[in-house]
Parts: sequence; C-alpha cells; structure tokens
Amino acid sequence: MPADLSPIDKAKFVAAKRATEFIETGMKVGLGTGSTAAWMVRCLAERIREEGLKVVGVPTSSRTAELARQVGVPITTLDEAKWLDLTIDGADEFDPNLALIKGGGAALLQEKIVATASDQMIVIADAAKEVAQLGAFPLPVEVIPFGWQTTKALIEETLVSLDVMNRDCSLRMNGAKPLITDESNYIIDLHLKRIGNPRQLALVLNQIPGVVENGLFIDICDIVVIGHGDGRVTVRDINQGSERDDFVEFKPSDNIFADME
Ligand code: 5RP
Repeated sequence: MPADLSPIDKAKFVAAKRATEFIETGMKVGLGTGSTAAWMVRCLAERIREEGLKVVGVPTSSRTAELARQVGVPITTLDEAKWLDLTIDGADEFDPNLALIKGGGAALLQEKIVATASDQMIVIADAAKEVAQLGAFPLPVEVIPFGWQTTKALIEETLVSLDVMNRDCSLRMNGAKPLITDESNYIIDLHLKRIGNPRQLALVLNQIPGVVENGLFIDICDIVVIGHGDGRVTVRDINQGSERDDFVEFKPSDNIFADME
C-alpha cells in the first residue's frame, strides 16, 4: 500500500469508507466516478470479500466499470437494474443546500442519470470541496460535437443575463484533441467564479440546443460524508437537519491497498 497517503487522500479514503456503511445486502448501488469514488469501490469490494455482502453496482463511467471488475464488485447496467437504492459519488463542490458541481472527471451525464434513478444519493468528499457558494470550480457542460462552437457561443450569450461573476468558457482538451466523454460528446467548462442562482442556471443551460447536460446537481443529493485528513468524518443529512462526527480507523494493513502501487 502507499504507506504515506497524503492528508487529502486520507480524507477521501475515510469519507469513502464511512459511506459504504450505508450499503446493505441486497441493494442496487450507483458507483460514482473520480478518485474519491474509486476508494469507495475498493471499500465496497472489501465488504463483499469480508462480510459476504450481496450487492450489484451500476457504474457511472467506463473507468469505474473497469475498476469494479478488477476488484470484484458485481456490476450491471442501469437498464437492467432500472432503479437503485443508493448512489455514492464524489463532487467537485457542494454548498450548504447540497447543490453540487460535478463533472471534473467528465462523467457528469451518466452520473446525473444514475443519481436521479436512485432513492438516495450520498456525496463523499474531502473538506476542501465545501463552499458557501458554487462557482469557483469551472462548471462542466456536456455538448454534442456537432456545431460545438455555436453551442459555446450560445452558452456565453445566455450567461450575459444570468447571475454569474465571469463568463469565460473553454473546450476541455485531452492533449491536442478535444476530450471525448463516454457518450462521445465534448465538455465545455464554464469559468463562472460565482453562481448566484444554480437552479436557474441549470434549467437555462439545458434549454440550449447542443447542450446534453450540465454538471449542476440540484435537489439530488441527500447526505454528504466529509472526510478530514486526521481520520475524522462528518456525516451531514440535509433532510434530517443532522450532523455527526465519527472516526474511521485507518489501517495501513487494509487489504484494499494490496494491489495498489
Ligand atoms: C467526475 C466527478 C467526480 O465525482 C468529481 O470530479 C470529484 O472527483 P474526485 O473525487 O477525484 O475529487 O464529478 O465526473
């Protein structure tokens, strides 16, 4: 295992580990994408191995599907599962209402479909993802490649009448070429700095022809599990208005690290 996980990785790990305690045998579980969600998939695999937990996962990206197969989490498609008990995923930012920015890993489309098809969505994040107001992290918008420059211009024009601080938009690249999502689309990142009205922005963006989906998750997430570098984990439930702190034991011998460099 990497003996010296950085405090940020420790925070991601403990959040992921605590969140897997919400998973019960028989559940159909949405498996998020990103570095925090990857810890969660590994922690879930450990519970499957050690407790014989019976679950099936629906991955939100090809990357997560590959990891799940590697570590032994049974997976199926959303069409097969139809409706899920729970989705656990990371986020790029979350605000006090648990509105989220997602899509830093370019998986926002499948992530939003899967989370919306779940009874509950739990976000796992390190404490740095908590913000008073969304927008410092660039908002990803998935667009169809056809006419993407026109779509980008329409997005920029639309932003003029909205409550945002900045309006620069950029096509996300993968080296010299546009990044291609799992659904064969492009991502345009909106560098807004501050989003005054996330609900309005989410609705308006999705009206623009060429926009497939945006990375604002409003009224989708119920619980956030926030990890800290010292092993402390805060579980905040927006519906119950509750918050509690726990400690997650961090054992360097955890065999979830066994196959990692
Ligand atoms: C992928 C996402 C991720 O959940 C988000 O980018 C957080 O990633 P990480 O856990 O690596 O910080 O939305 O599309």
